[in-house]
Amino acid sequence: MTDGFINVALPKGRLGDRVYGIFERAGYGCPEIQIKNRRLIFESGQNRVRYFWVKPSDVAIYVEKGAADVGVAGKDILLEYRPDVYELCDLKEGRCRMAVAARADYQDDSSVSLRVATKFPNIAKRHFAKKSREIEIIKLNGSIELAPLLGLSDVIVDIVETGATLKENGLAVVEDIVDISARFISNKASFGFMQDKILQMSAQIREVCR
Ligand code: PRP
Repeated sequence: MTDGFINVALPKGRLGDRVYGIFERAGYGCPEIQIKNRRLIFESGQNRVRYFWVKPSDVAIYVEKGAADVGVAGKDILLEYRPDVYELCDLKEGRCRMAVAARADYQDDSSVSLRVATKFPNIAKRHFAKKSREIEIIKLNGSIELAPLLGLSDVIVDIVETGATLKENGLAVVEDIVDISARFISNKASFGFMQDKILQMSAQIREVCR
């Protein structure tokens, strides 16, 4: 859409409300977005901004394909899918870490292939390749913590935020892989033709998130 609006894909849900708050404080408020309803597109003619509520793991796809000019995606998604976008700034929200975890009594046996359950197969493969550790990926879509409890895997590679899910299931972190947080990203073509607007938005967001 080239109507002078900047199209922003926001992650729907708990993180999204906090992320919208950042955009509002950065000067890109859109009052009608706060009315509780099921609409997914909101715009502010005054600020020339249009927001889309997108499933968090899909934001990078909308931005990469140009359906949105910019958006906010988790570093976990950027590392897993490596979308062809620019990463412009760290919102320092949604902070957590990607870690390897296992049953508290787990002991590694390096003579056999390690069974790794995860929603993030690429991150897991790269992590263990660096250590030259042979693994077998078991790709799951949720409740990853169940896998080692049921003997489906030896370890998991997953997001740890408070650590409560691990603790309550008798699991513990074996090693940290990387810190995660929400990032402001831009479509490459949009960045080319509305660079000033996007850089200004990025600078104002960075100022709010300092
Ligand atoms: C994520 C992650 C862990 C949990 C970690 O799951 O996969 O299960 O949050 O948070 P904690 O350290 O604060 O306990 P999510 O809620 O996204 O659900 P999922 O089971 O669908 O992955």
